[in-house]
Amino acid sequence: MKKNLIDLTVKEVRKLNASCVLLVMTDDKPLPPCRPGQFAELRVDETPTVMLRRPISIHSYDAASNEIGFLVQVVGDGTRWLASLTEGSKVNVLFPLGNGFTLPVDNSRRLLLVGGGVGSAPLYALAQELRNSGCDFTILIGARSAKDIYRKTEFEALGRVEYTTEDGTLGEKGYVTNHTLLNEKFDYIYTCGPKPMMMAVARYAREKSIPCEASLENRMACGLGACLCCVEDTTSGHRCVCTDGPVFSIDELKW
Ligand SMILES: Cc1cc2nc3c(=O)[nH]c(=O)nc-3n(C[C@H](O)[C@H](O)[C@H](O)COP(=O)(O)OP(=O)(O)OC[C@H]3O[C@@H](n4cnc5c(N)ncnc54)[C@H](O)[C@@H]3O)c2cc1C
Ligand code: FES
Repeated sequence: MKKNLIDLTVKEVRKLNASCVLLVMTDDKPLPPCRPGQFAELRVDETPTVMLRRPISIHSYDAASNEIGFLVQVVGDGTRWLASLTEGSKVNVLFPLGNGFTLPVDNSRRLLLVGGGVGSAPLYALAQELRNSGCDFTILIGARSAKDIYRKTEFEALGRVEYTTEDGTLGEKGYVTNHTLLNEKFDYIYTCGPKPMMMAVARYAREKSIPCEASLENRMACGLGACLCCVEDTTSGHRCVCTDGPVFSIDELKW
């Protein structure tokens, strides 16, 4: 898929909580097609401490309205700059990057999407696509607390959503892998979130012999397969998460 370098215009900035914003961007020309699970490298300007672009998942993509959305959680200078953007700002964006999730070939299978915190970001684009294809899917989102669950209303508009929070403020108390939903039968799992959560989901999937894909968030620099800083040691050798991933079958992962 062709990579594009475009100065996108910020159309909307929505603060979701103290540390997370939704950025909706657009362009005068039609945006390039994007697959759920792909990501973008956003250039951070006017910040002397940040030299490299920052990888951010494509959270939403709408060809009809020509809009692409990103959820940004502030953890350092780069994401702080992104979160401080205002409507009308320009951002230089390299996208779409990476492989994206494998979409089901037929819609008879029961799919489970498991996200943790801001890791739920790419699962929204996936759920949009699955809903449009008439697939049977359930979303399970885990977070520390209810305030760390993002885009609740929008996720719920796409289908069935269940929650776990560590403090019990929303859904079942505990971790996603303890949710009673996992007593149901699923045929395929997609997951994105903190590595310990994805490892627990992968363990559950292996125990139940359910195929599962995980979207990795290894630290990146170039995003183009050149610097090798994002390499993951897989069953088929060292692979670049930016170009061979970020989505991998758990069969390829050594964890
Ligand atoms: C494929 C991919 C998709 C991503 N999607 C999103 C997204 O949708 N929304 C979002 O908010 N973030 C996402 N991230 C993480 C995001 O890229 C980092 O948080 C960001 O680059 C940090 O930049 P910074 O300058 O703000 O912080 P830095 O100053 O670079 O780092 C601040 C702190 O965050 C830690 N950190 C930085 N990058 C990562 C990482 N990749 N994983 C874990 N810890 C990290 C550092 O170790 C440090 O402790 C994604 C990362 C990847 C690789
Ligand atoms: S980030 Fe440079 S090779 Fe992946």
